Amino acid sequence: MRISILGCGYVGLVTGACLAEIGHQVVCTDNDESKIKTLNQGALPIYEPNLDEIVARNRKAERLTFTADLGDAVRFGDAIFICVGTPPLQDGDADLSSIDSSARLIAAEARSSKLVIEKSTVPMQTGQKLKRALEIYARNSGISFSVASNPEFLREGTAVLDFLHPDRIVIGVGDERTEAQLREVYRPLVEQNIACPIHNGNCPPKVAPRLLVTSINSAELIKHACNSFLAVKISYANLIADICENMGADVDEVVEAMGLDARIGPQFLRPGLGFGGFCLPKDVQAFIRLGEKAGVDVALLKDAERINKKRIDSFLAKARHALWILKDKRIGILGLAFKPETDDIRFAPAIELIRRLLQEQAQIQVYDPQAMEKTKALYPSIRYCTDPHEVADSAEALMIVTEWEVFKTLDWQRIERAMLRPLILDGRNLLRGKELAALGFEYQGIGKPIDESLAHIPVSG
Ligand code: UGA
Repeated sequence: MRISILGCGYVGLVTGACLAEIGHQVVCTDNDESKIKTLNQGALPIYEPNLDEIVARNRKAERLTFTADLGDAVRFGDAIFICVGTPPLQDGDADLSSIDSSARLIAAEARSSKLVIEKSTVPMQTGQKLKRALEIYARNSGISFSVASNPEFLREGTAVLDFLHPDRIVIGVGDERTEAQLREVYRPLVEQNIACPIHNGNCPPKVAPRLLVTSINSAELIKHACNSFLAVKISYANLIADICENMGADVDEVVEAMGLDARIGPQFLRPGLGFGGFCLPKDVQAFIRLGEKAGVDVALLKDAERINKKRIDSFLAKARHALWILKDKRIGILGLAFKPETDDIRFAPAIELIRRLLQEQAQIQVYDPQAMEKTKALYPSIRYCTDPHEVADSAEALMIVTEWEVFKTLDWQRIERAMLRPLILDGRNLLRGKELAALGFEYQGIGKPIDESLAHIPVSG
């Protein structure tokens, strides 16, 4: 099929590249011309594992092209995927102005009938509004539009594999023709007749995903319901962690046992500094607003959000407990991205943590395998280390904020020698406390009984 993608962010790029990979002709566009220039030079504006390989292969095969000409892109596809941003407004509602501009663009530039698909995360009933907007903006043109919702369930860091090996594909449609078109788009995935496209062979076993056909409203709701559930699950794990910490149990032991119950499952029970990124926090907010408008009691979601916001407070309290005054204390931070395997720092716990530490005038030195450039734009004056071991230089505490695999195998003896005080505050329970203690570290994880020996004893005189 001929497919157009509006928006070359994480969702648009992965969707466009993977649709080309499964055999479609894809043209991607974005109103940020610099992004298109970068893509046409063979580089990627984001870091996402395996995406470079897929983009390069499909550009070479001429199945995937990038253009800054928005009109050309609209005219190219029989199906147009809207993959633009829907950031939060001040009041928590999703800002849908880019969806509206996409409708204007499509209506103005289309010369034939189009299937317009919402891929961006939007509140329920947006599809109805989008359809109406297209009709109004294209009034008198004689061109008709059908609208569908096809939510994405891509996790940053594993988005390519998630696209090619989905648990399920949801298509929200209003008529049979649209259903048939979308079935055709996803046929190669449903039939699983594609070779593992990832060079390192990390593809999961082939399992045909279920394709669920729903109403447009249901499809929109499914996306918000899933992300909000994941957020609630994480906050629940963090609530358990707090109880463990205060009453003397180990949260890792508790959630492991919980996760073995098939009804609960092990995923998204990792306690820590809470959920960040550009999806969960904003989607929970937007879902709260939607529920409130619907007159539904959304206290559960509000509590999940409240628990999440307090994660940084309790981590800082732990730092003060151990370090007493933070002013002028040199603190090393490992990890800036909102999760491993991405360079994305939007709503990342590290960004809020650094802001708060700077407020208390701590001296900060940081390292992240991918996210340093983006962080530099926000905090130009903190120290950026070229090697993760450097964050230990004369530091009085080292904070683990993102659980990158590489941090597990650092030279901890070297780090212990470099630190002024070998104290580790592990915000993701990434490291083994006992092994570090044997090397001479003081170690405090999340949801572990608080080690009273870590309480700072002010030096007198
Ligand atoms: C999330 C969803 O997982 C995807 O299914 C969805 O498609 C995507 O949002 C989206 O709406 O586009 P993503 O934002 O990439 O994906 O990240 P997650 O893997 O969900 O992690 C979100 C945050 O929760 C991260 O900060 C992570 O560190 C945190 N987290 C995750 C925990 O604190 N504990 C856990 O057990 C799991």
